[in-house]
Amino acid sequence: MKNRYRNVCMILAIFLFVTGCAQNSHCASEVVPDGEIEEEKEDYIVVGYSQVGSESDYRIANTKSVRDIFTQKNGYYLLFEDAQQKQENQLKTIRDFILQEVDYIVLDPVVETGWEAVLQEAKDAGIPVILSDRSVEVEDENLYTAWVGSNFEEEGVCAGKWLENYLAATGRSQEEIQIVTLQGTLGSTSQIGRTKGFQNVLEKNQSWKMLDRSSGDFTQAKGKEVMEEFLEKYPEIDVVVSENDNMTFGAIEAIKEAGKTCGPKGDIILISFDSVQAALIAMKEGDINVDIECNPLLAPKIAEIIDKLEAGEKVEKIHYVEESYYDTFMDLDSVIRKRSY
Ligand code: AHR
Repeated sequence: MKNRYRNVCMILAIFLFVTGCAQNSHCASEVVPDGEIEEEKEDYIVVGYSQVGSESDYRIANTKSVRDIFTQKNGYYLLFEDAQQKQENQLKTIRDFILQEVDYIVLDPVVETGWEAVLQEAKDAGIPVILSDRSVEVEDENLYTAWVGSNFEEEGVCAGKWLENYLAATGRSQEEIQIVTLQGTLGSTSQIGRTKGFQNVLEKNQSWKMLDRSSGDFTQAKGKEVMEEFLEKYPEIDVVVSENDNMTFGAIEAIKEAGKTCGPKGDIILISFDSVQAALIAMKEGDINVDIECNPLLAPKIAEIIDKLEAGEKVEKIHYVEESYYDTFMDLDSVIRKRSY
C-alpha cells in the first residue's frame, strides 16, 4: 500500500517539478543534491524509536542496527530519541510520537513498570507498539503488539551452569565459593532475568554464598565504583558476576588497582554478559573467564514484524534472538574477527 502511494507521489512530484519550474523560482529548493525530488515523511513508514540510552557497547551496536535498517532507502522514516536511561524522557517521547501520528512506535523500556497509561494512549491512537530488547510488566498484554529480545533468565542460568561445570572441572565443587554480583539497571528486564536465572542455579549449590549484590547501572564508571566497594568490604571474593561487559571493564580496573587479578589464572573468577568484541579481547588477554552473549542486532526482526503488519498479516508476540556463550576454552580469534560490535 505504502509503496504504491509513494510511487504515485513521486510521479506527481516530478510532474509538478517539471511544469512548475518555469514560473516558480523556489522549485530548486525541492531538489536534494543528487537530483532526486525530496520526499515527504508521509511517503514512508514512520517509525518512532525510543532508545534506552548509550550506556554500553551493546547499546551502541543496538542503535547502529536500528539506524542501518530503518533507512529511507528501505522505505522507513526514522524518528530516533535517546532517553539517557530515564523513563520520564521515554514517556515524553512516546507522547510526542503519538502527537506526530507515527505509524509504529518501537520502545526499548529502561525499566519494566510504569507503562500502562502511555501504552493505552498509543493503543487509543491506533499506533502499534513493538518492544525491543527489554520488556514491560502490564496487566493487559494487548497494550503492545510484539516483543523482540534476549532470553535474559536463560542467560543467567547459563552463567550459573557454566560456574558449576568450571568448579567441578577445577576440583572446587566442595569449596565454599564467595560471590558478588554487579547488577544492571534495577528493574530492567535484563537485570531481573539475569539475577533470577543465576539465583536459580545458586539455590541448588549449598556451598555457594552470595555476599552482596549492587547495581552499577550497566556503565563502566559505576561498575568500577561498586567493585571498589566490594573489594573493600569483602577480602575473599572468589567470583564476580557482572551483568554486562561495560561494568566488567570497570570491575577489571578496580580489581587490578586493588593489586588482585581475575580470569582463569587470577584470584577471582569473572563472569560477564553481552560478549562485545572488546570483552572477548579482554578474555583472550586472560581477564574474563566466560561471557554470556546478548545479541544487540534486533532491528532486522523488528522490520520484518512491521512489514508483516503492513501486509495485514498476524505476527507472533514473542521473538527471541539467537545467542551463545564464550569462554577461554574456545577459539576466540575467529569469533573476535567476525564480531561486528
Ligand atoms: O538490556 C540489555 C542490556 O542493556 C545489555 O546487557 C547492556 O549492555 C545494556 O545496557
